Amino acid sequence: MKILACLSLAGGQGKTTTVVLLSKHLAAAGYTVLVVDGDPQSNLTTFLGHEVAPNEPTLLEVVKASVQLEDAIYATEIPNLYLIPSDDGLDNAQEYLSTTGMGAMVLGKRLSPGQGTFDICLIDSPPQRSQICKSIIGAAERIIIPCEATVKGFGSLVRSLEAIHELKDLGASAADLLGVIPFRDRWVGANQTQESRSVIAAMREEVGEAQVLPSIRESEKFKKAISQQATLAELGVPDLAYPFDVLVKRIESIEAIAV
Ligand SMILES: Nc1ncnc2c1ncn2[C@@H]1O[C@H](COP(=O)(O)OP(=O)(O)O)[C@@H](O)[C@H]1O
Ligand SMILES: [Mg+2]
Repeated sequence: MKILACLSLAGGQGKTTTVVLLSKHLAAAGYTVLVVDGDPQSNLTTFLGHEVAPNEPTLLEVVKASVQLEDAIYATEIPNLYLIPSDDGLDNAQEYLSTTGMGAMVLGKRLSPGQGTFDICLIDSPPQRSQICKSIIGAAERIIIPCEATVKGFGSLVRSLEAIHELKDLGASAADLLGVIPFRDRWVGANQTQESRSVIAAMREEVGEAQVLPSIRESEKFKKAISQQATLAELGVPDLAYPFDVLVKRIESIEAIAV
């Protein structure tokens, strides 16, 4: 099982959008995919059509090890796609993680029984550098950073890279960057806006040309794909799915770790 996280330390950077569309792409390609909702705002859980019932195990119970991993995994309507959901109760994981002293190690350990069952585990992150966020960075082998093609988005990229480096420095993470995805890249007709162009150029300078993946264009179609639970191809815009095709190839090229 390859563990990947979608991280970006600000709201509205395309983390959840990337997790939803990428996981569906991977599942459609035949991989068995586990997605994990690591944000107490739980947009991922909602977007995948899951409603957490009272007393139903979620990521919180997985983190606290009060249930077995498999008891908090739910099938979705999409073949090959499984979810560990969350609700706002996930905030209660913060205290647990900060008192264990090894908070960054917890999530990876809790997910390890999924080795052998799932091909890919993709974790969605909260927008803050919280204990949950650190545990997600600790669990991930590769990190995808989506960030808006704006000055705010560039700031989010810089903070995300800092958070990863800090944990790597401490030996609490072995994560490498899988790539940066410029989000809401704006074009007017055949012309990219000046802001999008200059911010994406700055991203290339920050992480290197090869680490900046094809961008997610500004388009209502993505919102539609998510709200209607459709693929971009089904909406008649298969070209917009190109960034996810490239991501799938990058993920396929990661060497599977020995179990
Ligand atoms: N390609 C797109 N163009 C414009 N808006 C988009 C696009 N894709 C998603 N959105 C919208 O952008 C917002 C932020 O996306 P989201 O994935 O929820 O970010 P995050 O998880 O980082 O907070 C959402 O309201 C979503 O509907
Ligand atoms: Mg989100």
